[in-house]
Amino acid sequence: MLLEEVILWTRACFTAIVASVNPFVENTIIVINGQQVDAKTASIPVFDRGFLYGDSLYEVARTYGGKALFMSEHLDRLFESAKLARMQLSQSKEEYRRQMEASIQAFRALPGQSQSEAYCRIIVTRGAGKIGFGLNCVMTPTQYVILTQKLEPPSAEQFQKGFKYRVVERFRNHPNATDPAMKSGNYLNSLLAFLEAGDGFDDALLCNADGHLTEGTTFNIFYVKNGIVVTSPLDIGILDGLTRRATLELAKKLKIPVREVRFPKERLYEADEVFMTSTIKEVFPVTKVDQHTIAKGKPGPITEKLNQAFRKEVQTWLA
Ligand SMILES: Cc1ncc(COP(=O)(O)O)c(C=O)c1O
Repeated sequence: MLLEEVILWTRACFTAIVASVNPFVENTIIVINGQQVDAKTASIPVFDRGFLYGDSLYEVARTYGGKALFMSEHLDRLFESAKLARMQLSQSKEEYRRQMEASIQAFRALPGQSQSEAYCRIIVTRGAGKIGFGLNCVMTPTQYVILTQKLEPPSAEQFQKGFKYRVVERFRNHPNATDPAMKSGNYLNSLLAFLEAGDGFDDALLCNADGHLTEGTTFNIFYVKNGIVVTSPLDIGILDGLTRRATLELAKKLKIPVREVRFPKERLYEADEVFMTSTIKEVFPVTKVDQHTIAKGKPGPITEKLNQAFRKEVQTWLA
């Protein structure tokens, strides 16, 4: 075997090992600061402030028939988050959009992915700089990464089972702390809540220090009582979820009364239905909260109606 062949063979083996150890890098498009790079070796500097301090923002868009839903709204929210984080973004909304759409196209051009729906995440960090909080450390050009891979939404079978959530002791961040309205990359509080939920639960719901329910770790929460849809108001300190917004609009359109009011966790225990919303899971039933079974453990009729209406409206929103 020639030396070059040995090198090529070794490299191919190494690549295969990396892919088998890290299956999540397969069929993934990574763009770093506008350059597409090999997902297996993609890296960011250890001095990046997102890594050092959780000093980053992000958005996740998903596609329907290959087209990203609510792209403008995602980018508007990214720019709102940047304002809250006092971060000066390096690119325009149009440029981020162009690059996200190009990476979705590149993903669908991968072998076997032409019909796959895409999960497209943009992460913006304050950039790489000297460790510390001095202005000379903080005023670095922002960096961005776009990561696109196959969307993995929950199955129809999971929909029938619904999610089981625990209301944890940990509080949602106060808006005067790391404001939940800002979609920052700092999810340690939410992750700790998720870990607290523990075995037997899919995820966690968080109250604020006043004992009012806010939202889940990565989703908004709703309940239905006597035909009225209720969810926490934005000023309690939650993310202005795009699916939450769309669901509230749809409910109004379907003449289902909605209320955005503060409520304690016990309202969920007594609810006729509970459901969650997020970009990836759309409108999804919750069938257990703490030890209480909701809607006899099945998706409720209003949850199903809103879920179907959401899917039906997608084409209009994409147009
Ligand atoms: C804390 C939090 N709330 C709500 C949501 C749902 O927002 P959207 O519907 O825009 O995905 C998310 C999504 O990541 C989230 O992280």
